[in-house]
Amino acid sequence: MPHPLNRRNFLLKSISVGCLSIPVLSQLVGCKSSVQEQVQKKTYSDPKYELLDLALEHEFGVVVQYSNHNGVIAALGDDPDGVLASAIGDILCQEADHAAALTDILQRNGVQPTIAAWPPQQGATTAEMITKDVAAEEGAVKLYQQILAQDFDDNTRRTIEILLEHEQNHLQMFTDILAELS
Ligand SMILES: [Fe+2]
Ligand SMILES: [Fe+2]
Repeated sequence: MPHPLNRRNFLLKSISVGCLSIPVLSQLVGCKSSVQEQVQKKTYSDPKYELLDLALEHEFGVVVQYSNHNGVIAALGDDPDGVLASAIGDILCQEADHAAALTDILQRNGVQPTIAAWPPQQGATTAEMITKDVAAEEGAVKLYQQILAQDFDDNTRRTIEILLEHEQNHLQMFTDILAELS
């Protein structure tokens, strides 16, 4: 006697073809693992590594943000001499270096470095974008100051001090650019 047609029987019939079971199918399409990844919270042996991982997310976020702003500002025609593009490009390179440095520190300390990025911010005008860049740098300065309050070996501390110096310079540069736009 045939089974009544319902969702469960339909699924069991459909996925039994070719010897695939529900768990196998789930693994193949990645559904189960992606849910598990969202549910399982990343843990850290020390809160200072969580802060470094957050800083790494921030660095990735600004790399995307500044790349976007560089291109949009050029398209708006607000930077005919390429002065802004050059300044933002230099900052962008340093942010990428920061991300690599933080990845190195985390990996050496047994923490899988994140590849997530804090949400980059867009803007409709050059002034709006630079305002958001100032805010991003203010956030970076505060975060590295907080990180430096943690206990690190001398080399790591020196690296983070250099990153903080860069962020303070970036903050000043974007603040100056914004003042010139006003
Ligand atoms: Fe940075
Ligand atoms: Fe920065």
